[in-house]
Amino acid sequence: MLQGRNILPTSMYACLSGMNTFLRSRPPSAQSRISNPYLRPETRLATRQIPRNNSSTSHQTSLPFRPRSYPVHPAITNLQIQQFEVVPFTSCTATARPSPFCCPNDLLFPITKSSAHQQSSPSIPAAMPPVPQTMKAIQVAQTGGPEVLQLKDVPVPAPSAAQVLVKNDFAGVNFIDTYFRTGLYPASLPLTLGREAAGTVVASHDGSVPVGTRVVYMDQGTYAQYSAVDASKVVPVPDGLSAEQAAAVYLQGLTAWTLVREAADVQPGQWALVHAAAGGVGLLLVQMLRIVGANVIGTASTTDKCELARKNGAEWTILSSGGDDDVVARVKEITGGHGIDAIFDGVGKATFDADLEMIAPKGHLVSFGNASGVVPPVNILRLGAKNVKLMRPVLNGYIAERQDLEKYAGELFELVASGKLNIAVHDVYPLSQAARAHVDIESRKTTGKLLLSCE
Ligand SMILES: NC(=O)c1ccc[n+]([C@@H]2O[C@H](COP(=O)([O-])OP(=O)(O)OC[C@H]3O[C@@H](n4cnc5c(N)ncnc54)[C@H](OP(=O)(O)O)[C@@H]3O)[C@@H](O)[C@H]2O)c1
Repeated sequence: MLQGRNILPTSMYACLSGMNTFLRSRPPSAQSRISNPYLRPETRLATRQIPRNNSSTSHQTSLPFRPRSYPVHPAITNLQIQQFEVVPFTSCTATARPSPFCCPNDLLFPITKSSAHQQSSPSIPAAMPPVPQTMKAIQVAQTGGPEVLQLKDVPVPAPSAAQVLVKNDFAGVNFIDTYFRTGLYPASLPLTLGREAAGTVVASHDGSVPVGTRVVYMDQGTYAQYSAVDASKVVPVPDGLSAEQAAAVYLQGLTAWTLVREAADVQPGQWALVHAAAGGVGLLLVQMLRIVGANVIGTASTTDKCELARKNGAEWTILSSGGDDDVVARVKEITGGHGIDAIFDGVGKATFDADLEMIAPKGHLVSFGNASGVVPPVNILRLGAKNVKLMRPVLNGYIAERQDLEKYAGELFELVASGKLNIAVHDVYPLSQAARAHVDIESRKTTGKLLLSCE
């Protein structure tokens, strides 16, 4: 078994569904260190490991306190910024509402207070730096290429009653951001781009998520220094996990985990294939599929990417372009003619026809992205030859209920804490260089996660 390098502290405090409070202690142990059994450090390609977070496990030491003073945003003055508590996840109640954005399953869950909210924590400081009136954000005024990403000075958003204001440390760059930039996915303009970030709550109306809580979340408008986020969407970052690590693993990790567990429900011994296996979602998918006991094949466009996918758990890799490999023929050979029980395809248009050829009878074809273009309309009769289960899932549909978000986020953090999941970051770009990050991810030269630093 190959040995990996530790990238996380020896202890983590995980937030899990079904727990009374979102914080619980895990005994420090050598076993809890992060080491990917499939990854040899010297063979990692174009990724860097996130430095170990040496902060203590208290909220106090992880707060990004800065002694600079800013004028207080007028919309913030009436908000509660001095209440610090441990918040039970289980205090949330759910109410559906139509989304103002584009995700039909996007739900809002107002968080109600429970008795545990009244308990203040002495370990958290009683003041946060004032919130400025304006901030830097990457906005799109018209759709197009990476050049339409403009760094703007914009007002700090004013959180509504059900929201908290988060000072973002890192925002994740995801391929979906390019769909909104180009207009493939419609949105009203001007648009502040971005779908995920990690940072610290700096203002909260009712203290349901206390000021000072380090959080990670998915919401629109995260290429920015501050975001107003529905309190129901934020998840506390376990102590021991840095904001950088949280932002790097959250959206893509939840995507990969829900696809493996819920979309395809992969079973031990099944054949699984991951396209773009060295990409952000891809590298996490190959690791998770090995964790659940699948036989994993990865495809990627270069030999370097194939090698990285193998180091992360793919037992076989196939060159998807520019080489001599015929993907369908190689799959037939590797699986002894059985075919693939679960195909995970974020590439889309370019790979869909081959998927139907190499899928096993009764297999799951999970088409979850459009990196090469949208899959054209499918003649449903094509599925009958092998009774294929064709899916086009989106993450929001699996975490729309707060209890599902907590469950999957908790399981994801557990995987990271247990050392079974490697977090590979391609690069961290300054917020002002978001356009360069888009050029890079679209050029197919990146592997793993791209992040923006929101300082
Ligand atoms: N459904 C959901 O809820 C959900 C959630 C998250 C992500 N996604 C989807 O998952 C996919 C991966 O997202 P990601 O953020 O992790 O990106 P990524 O995999 O890091 O980057 C995209 C990869 O796609 C491959 N690719 C193939 N044809 C391409 C083309 N014509 N142009 C650009 N790339 C091409 C490239 O890998 P090779 O060079 O190895 O081919 C490239 O590295 C995307 O399609 C995204 O939309 C879906």
